[in-house]
Amino acid sequence: MTNPISVPIKRVRRMRRSANMRDLVREHEFKLADLIHPIFIEENLTEAVPISTMPGISRIPETMLADEIHALYKLGVRYVMPFGISHTKDEIGSDTWNDNGLLARMVKTIKAACPDMMVIPDICFCEYTTHGHCGVYHDEHVLNDETLELLVRQSVTAAKAGADMLAPSAMMDGQVKAIREGLDAAGFEHVAILAHAVKFASAFYGPFRTAVDCELSGDRKAYQMDCANGRQALVEALLDEEEGADILMVKPGTPYLDVVANLRRKTNLPVAVYQVGGEYAGIKFAALAGALDEKRVVYETLTGFKRAGADLIVSYYTKQVAEWLAQDK
Ligand code: PBG
Ligand code: ZN
Repeated sequence: MTNPISVPIKRVRRMRRSANMRDLVREHEFKLADLIHPIFIEENLTEAVPISTMPGISRIPETMLADEIHALYKLGVRYVMPFGISHTKDEIGSDTWNDNGLLARMVKTIKAACPDMMVIPDICFCEYTTHGHCGVYHDEHVLNDETLELLVRQSVTAAKAGADMLAPSAMMDGQVKAIREGLDAAGFEHVAILAHAVKFASAFYGPFRTAVDCELSGDRKAYQMDCANGRQALVEALLDEEEGADILMVKPGTPYLDVVANLRRKTNLPVAVYQVGGEYAGIKFAALAGALDEKRVVYETLTGFKRAGADLIVSYYTKQVAEWLAQDK
């Protein structure tokens, strides 16, 4: 007699037999309140300009910013990260600490339109400097401590304009400590810092640089991190925690989920992840070509960020997700 086929003793499929059972044992779920929406605002522009590298995303004229904020708020979006597209660039990005500069005006316009919308501006210089680097550029180097001083001025200006939280992204040593001390000294101890704690020198920023007209020639490898270094990422993130960061962010997201997961185990602060322009573009262009089911892929990606350990996510898909979630109801 032949042996009968051996029967599995451990059966796991019973845990996913029905939608109700799957719902019952699901470990992670994202919600709209986890998502921060980056927006691009350009001065001296009369109509919205679609960004060719990021279909579905446009540069919003400054004059239409309040309308856009109302639209986002109505959809349930509560967190925006404004990026300015400046026509007032110089060697050091001085428009960023002008109380009537684009950064200050964006923040004021958003808070005036909708006081309940949390505004989390990117704090950096690359969109406001003629050379496109993230700080004071001299002899082919970005000068660290000279840049710190200007980051503090920019931060205090943004706080004065009404920013709720700041997202410094210049990757200068000591920037979180300098900004924290500068904010506290100016009476803004209530303004939080979402630190770009781990920011890799990534080719996934390509679409973003087109989006914001960044003039950069060369690269940022002397200040942003080497994508090969996962342990170094943890060392640097924990430095930001020591310096007073309120939230630690990893950027980009998808290629660095190991860093998110490892950081989750090393800190008790909230962990954020930034799904950058190249990640958005990859999904969007594949979807436009009919190769991917966009909504399912986006939901899967966001769920993956949560599973890896992210509490919050910066994503260009936020507005679209808000629309999808409203339709799902
Ligand atoms: C600027 C900045 C960058 C991004 C956010 N802030 C680009 C860069 O460092 O070149 C990238 C965002 C994205 O790619 O979506 N410091
Ligand atoms: Zn920058």
